[in-house]
Amino acid sequence: VKKVRVHHLVGAKERGEKLTMLTAYDAVTARILDAAGTDMLLVGDSLGNVMLGYDSTMPVTLDEMVVATRSVASAATRALVVADLPFGTYEAGPEQALASAARLMRVGANAVKLEGGRPRAQTVKLLSDAGIPVVGHLGFTPQSVNKLGGFRVQGRGEDAQEALLADAVALADAGAVAIVLEMVPAPVASRITQAVPVPTIGIGAGAGCDGQVLVWTDMAGMTDWTPRFVRRFGQVGQALHQAAQDYNAAVQDGSFPGPAESFEA
Ligand code: KIV
Ligand code: NA
Repeated sequence: VKKVRVHHLVGAKERGEKLTMLTAYDAVTARILDAAGTDMLLVGDSLGNVMLGYDSTMPVTLDEMVVATRSVASAATRALVVADLPFGTYEAGPEQALASAARLMRVGANAVKLEGGRPRAQTVKLLSDAGIPVVGHLGFTPQSVNKLGGFRVQGRGEDAQEALLADAVALADAGAVAIVLEMVPAPVASRITQAVPVPTIGIGAGAGCDGQVLVWTDMAGMTDWTPRFVRRFGQVGQALHQAAQDYNAAVQDGSFPGPAESFEA
């Protein structure tokens, strides 16, 4: 299989081929999602909520992201591995961002993702100039949930729409290789998609984006509740529950392990 590279992203946009991205946080899951033909695996800082039991992405550390990124990168043969820069590890400026991004790249990331628009343009440029592909993230940006006032659709209204467009153009001009648009009205996301030369990857941003991303545990049905923009493509949580129940019953009734699962003297 041919590895997905950053130049394939803009190529896919030009050819009108939709790009797929799913989050991954560990090797066992990454291997399955990679083999399924997912173009990009995002080691999201949603790691905090999804895997580590935190109630936001804010507490996630760079050390935690390094562990997860190394695990995903070790299992990805085709997918481009994108790793999130967690809260507090890049906002001080380009130099802080470079030091943080270098740690993720050293353990196998192919690109990093960071949140924010025009205020991040210089940082995106420096990382890019240093050979680190950067994915932007606009719209609802979870690391700013305290400032944004909760989980709300962003870019509604004329002024907000223009601001979002200016942010996207600034990121693309600074060298971003793709831009995630989260919880943005579909027509606004479509307009941004037409305005920038790099692919937009939507989550709750409608079908007009160049690609889509979902958190794998939401997509696969591992969780009881999902936001309205998620579609469940499987019932993996239910399947795992059933497997554990069957295992417990087999141990308790003595049918596991059987002779074939035991060693002779
Ligand atoms: O951390 C994450 O999972 C993300 C996606 C929702 C885009 O940033
Ligand atoms: Na994230």
